[in-house]
Amino acid sequence: MLVVRKAVQSAVRKNINRSFSASRPHLKERNGLVLGVFEKEGDEGALHLTESAARFDQSVCGKLSELLHIAGPGLKKGKNRIFYGIHQDFPCVAVVGLGKSDSGVCGAENWDAGKENIRHAVSVGCRSLQELEVSHVEVDGCGDPQSAAEGAVLGLFNYDQLKSKKKIKVTTQLHGSSDVDCWKKGVVYGEGQNLARFLMEAPANHITPTAFASTIEEKLAPHAERVTISKRSQAWIEEQQMGAFLSVAKGSEEPPVFLELHYNGSPDSKQPPLLLVGKGITFDSGGISLKPSVSMDAMRADMGGAATVCASIVTAAALNLPVNIIGLAPLCENMPSGKATKPGDVVRAKNGKTIQVDNTDAEGRLILADALCYAHAFHPKAIVNVATLTGAMDVALGSAATGVFTNSDWLWEQLHKASVVTGDRVWRMPLFQHYSKQVTDSQLADLNNIGKYSRSGGACTAAAFLREFVTAPHWAHLDIAGVMSNKDEIPYLRKGMSGRPTRTLVEFAAKLAPQLLRT
Ligand code: BES
Ligand code: ZN
Ligand code: ZN
Repeated sequence: MLVVRKAVQSAVRKNINRSFSASRPHLKERNGLVLGVFEKEGDEGALHLTESAARFDQSVCGKLSELLHIAGPGLKKGKNRIFYGIHQDFPCVAVVGLGKSDSGVCGAENWDAGKENIRHAVSVGCRSLQELEVSHVEVDGCGDPQSAAEGAVLGLFNYDQLKSKKKIKVTTQLHGSSDVDCWKKGVVYGEGQNLARFLMEAPANHITPTAFASTIEEKLAPHAERVTISKRSQAWIEEQQMGAFLSVAKGSEEPPVFLELHYNGSPDSKQPPLLLVGKGITFDSGGISLKPSVSMDAMRADMGGAATVCASIVTAAALNLPVNIIGLAPLCENMPSGKATKPGDVVRAKNGKTIQVDNTDAEGRLILADALCYAHAFHPKAIVNVATLTGAMDVALGSAATGVFTNSDWLWEQLHKASVVTGDRVWRMPLFQHYSKQVTDSQLADLNNIGKYSRSGGACTAAAFLREFVTAPHWAHLDIAGVMSNKDEIPYLRKGMSGRPTRTLVEFAAKLAPQLLRT
């Protein structure tokens, strides 16, 4: 054993020496490898290599397991160790801890812990290699290449477009598995969420309503055969009598846009569509009910609903999902000005209902009210709206899960099932009459845009307000204010705007497709 160890150590040393020779051309284009290890059941600190890691270990005559042994006992879930120079093609190898190999769906956590562990570990490995300026990384599929790809693509995302000093661009590829289709699917899911993150993170002077619509148009251009895009102007919005939407837009110099996307993926063009609506406030200052300036910058992401909805449609198109989807995004800024709506003003929504606007900062529900009325014209199978609607949602659930308010047990089941797979969780919230009463009691109009007991149950009164504009039997409102941004809670997302729950929306649409084909 001692002889073997010495031989290994000297081979490692030789390789290290070779790798550090600056004249070697491969140093410029450095390749890295991420390999997984599971914790051995009932054997504290012992590890077992994934299939690809074991194959790699064989190819280097057991060097990897030897070095892991030397490095010390155990490799905890989400931690990594880097080994240099053990393989000629991979100067840097990151070995990542995947936790227990039998982790699966966890009832208490409402997610698939095995998948989450893979996303986490792979993201950590890829990021470590990025710090070492490795520009191409091969990744162990860890038995679930889709989750591995999601971990890699989500983990490496960084919004540094506007910085002079940028992190090195890293390309990734599946290592040691033939399941490339699952890997590719994971890449598309991850890139979908990254598109939403990009739109949310970008400053509001870059992503105006007009720029938002053009970006989505560009992203959908490769799928033009199955997609139609309409960027409706202010004149169209006026014709549609969307008085609630216009009352928000009118405080700003930026013109509003009502973005309408049709993805025709089903072989049956007459199949009722899934209808997605996203709140698209590209900046929420609060309007005349001005927000405090601390953290107001985060309100550049108040178009997170529109971003996740549109990114889901781009992703559905890239995946060729056999389902029809319509996306609607009312886009505008909420600004104070001499022309802005004032507290106490009364406006009329598309369906004729009048609304007393007692707080101009409760603007999301106003623009969604008109979009929801319009949505019904398409006789959809289901309507799902997504919105960074209330600070109260963040107070209720924090960033653990998106709050779902729905009139449909069937729709809830579908969304919940999808979220267990993606790990981007949802949690059901109430739509009691108790809350409806608080928004239908208005001194001047049919509705008031804030609940009469001010902050109590704020997420629930907002949902109750939206319900006043819904007659469809399958409707869900997703309040994503709590999951809008990430500090370090989701370990495979860096700090910043999260793009959540794009993957859950995509998974939901993907699971819905075969059901709709059967009906
Ligand atoms: N966009 C905000 C909600 C929000 C807050 C999203 C924090 C993400 C993080 C929304 O338009 C808003 O201002 N809502 C008010 C409603 C209140 C005036 C009834 C709120 O939550 O304070
Ligand atoms: Zn607001
Ligand atoms: Zn808002």
